[in-house]
Amino acid sequence: MAVNDIPRTLWWEDNALHLIDQTRLPLQGDVLVCNTYEGVMLAIQSLAVRGAPAIGIAGAFGLALWALTEGLSFPDSGADYLARAHEVAEQLASARPTAVNLSWAVHKLCETLDAAVAEGLDPQAVGERLLDGARQQAADDEAANRALGAAGAALFSAPTKFLTHCNAGSLATAFYGTALGVIYAAHEQEKVEHVWVDETRPVNQGSRLTAWELLVAGVPSTLICDNMAATVMREGWVDAVIVGADRICANGDTANKIGTLGLAVLAKEFDIPFYVAAPTSTIDLSLPDGSGIVIEERDPREIEGFTASGQLDPNTPAIAVALDKMTAEGAADLPLTKGHRLNIARKGGGYAFDGWFKNTPSHVQVFNPAFDLTPATYIRAYITEKGVVTAADIPSL
Ligand code: MRU
Repeated sequence: MAVNDIPRTLWWEDNALHLIDQTRLPLQGDVLVCNTYEGVMLAIQSLAVRGAPAIGIAGAFGLALWALTEGLSFPDSGADYLARAHEVAEQLASARPTAVNLSWAVHKLCETLDAAVAEGLDPQAVGERLLDGARQQAADDEAANRALGAAGAALFSAPTKFLTHCNAGSLATAFYGTALGVIYAAHEQEKVEHVWVDETRPVNQGSRLTAWELLVAGVPSTLICDNMAATVMREGWVDAVIVGADRICANGDTANKIGTLGLAVLAKEFDIPFYVAAPTSTIDLSLPDGSGIVIEERDPREIEGFTASGQLDPNTPAIAVALDKMTAEGAADLPLTKGHRLNIARKGGGYAFDGWFKNTPSHVQVFNPAFDLTPATYIRAYITEKGVVTAADIPSL
């Protein structure tokens, strides 16, 4: 239980991108092995990998993966090769629309691609260049997070009580985290009294991921439902709210996980400073303000029901035999009533399940925006790897 024990969510190994499947955390620690760029896109879209910096790095590895698989079937890195590479890059860059880090990372790697092709390198050498570029992006992100963590920790003195939303931790980045990076750095300086963790409906990045990371790191924390934040603020139990960001516009308007705006409004009401922690790769100077940000809308089933993944514990031989039989031919999809779904598979000598259970009426209408927009006026400061700045400083970063 120390900050050094926090998880690394993605890495390159054996010619493939390995990802912890965050949809199944914390009860199952599965690793997805992506051998194709299409697999990386699916992982991004399904939230197996998520968090603005992490999807950017995954996208960059996705382009390198294309170059080292399909890209090798081209006789040379001529016009056809380049056209296809850019087509793949655009698919990856647009896998999710709101976090600018994804398109930023993929387009940054496209500069490496264009330079390598202009040098006349063959497809194998271009692929290796791209892989080096993706690895460098991961290293740069980790360094940025450590730097912004240190800059942010300097803002606080012991004992500080934080509230955070979603997961802006190691799992959302190459390593260490942004909002949680600040909290980890402050914790190592013994400044953290407590962290309130919003569960973050509908996909529960707070209760599944942040709560787990903070436990692993040994940071004292308490999980609350999103609608309890006002109560803990009014009680005087929060000294600072700190969140990550998916896109910060030139005027400081910030898109982040749905629910962030409500917290910012509450923080203003209760006179609690509200901080956004993000690397400068999250800043989008092409947008003067937040009105141009595309907010992703996700599958209504995220709200119509809940998912659960875990291990089955067959406590009698008869149940084990039944499960063995059921999964003899591979994973079993159990027919359930009312649209519920349950899938059972063998895993590591036991049995794992993935379920989706509906807990709303059929045909109910659902609105499911994944992010919201917090106007700059609510944000006390932006904690970046280049220092702590106000909205007015953003264009100069
Ligand atoms: O939908 P998600 O889980 O990708 O949303 C993540 C967030 O909103 C994070 O707060 C943001 O990406 C910052 S992560 C360092």
